[in-house]
Amino acid sequence: MRRTLIAGNWKMNGSLAANSVLLEGISAAAPTDCDLAVCVPAPYLSQAQAALCASAVLWGAQDVSEHESGAYTGEVSASMLKEFGCTYVIVGHSERRSYHGESSELVARKALRALTTGLLPIICVGETLQEREAGLTDAVVVSQLAPVISAVGKQLADVVIAYEPVWAIGTGKTATPEMAQQVHNLIRTTLAKTSVDAADVVQILYGGSMKPDNAKDLLAMSDIDGGLIGGASLKSADFLAIASAVHAA
Ligand code: PGA
Repeated sequence: MRRTLIAGNWKMNGSLAANSVLLEGISAAAPTDCDLAVCVPAPYLSQAQAALCASAVLWGAQDVSEHESGAYTGEVSASMLKEFGCTYVIVGHSERRSYHGESSELVARKALRALTTGLLPIICVGETLQEREAGLTDAVVVSQLAPVISAVGKQLADVVIAYEPVWAIGTGKTATPEMAQQVHNLIRTTLAKTSVDAADVVQILYGGSMKPDNAKDLLAMSDIDGGLIGGASLKSADFLAIASAVHAA
């Protein structure tokens, strides 16, 4: 039985003062029947660590360098994230793929770097509206997964996948539970071609305008094991309401 993971992606939002309210709100009422995590901007990792270390809420980052260390100005290494107690790191978010030109091969190398450093990568995949309308959703998702599957090898069971249709991110448009389930099932079937055991345990999260009012129906689908939440993770009440939907689903 896969445990549900509700992970917040704060993106480039926050301030010391606002984070303090948000982190306190989340940790004070965190449910125990699912895993809860927040992926915060790198400068706030220390604040998240201090605020959450005594709670059940986990934390992580939103990107990581493919390199171990060295002359890579502006990059943050996996071992640095580890030093700040991160459990997770998001890799391959569509905003990084589109604004920073990240290829699926680079995303795969980042995922491998995370795994070899003891971090759990949340690997994002998903199609654009144009690709969906051209009937390319399955092909796009499978091609984004392929380099990851070949890079991580035996550690496949330790990855988290987030299916985030690009057209649903921050737009208020959500994939219907059935649409999302179809792609989640495709992802699991694709993983199973490499390892049936890994495919069975990998958590596959849905991301893209998940909110308190649609979370229950999405989370009720058999291959949706949680959510990667952007906008609704910035208010503790909304984030916790999504986590409570796990119980209802
Ligand atoms: P959203 O973002 O919930 O605001 O759509 C999700 C994400 O980009 O991870």
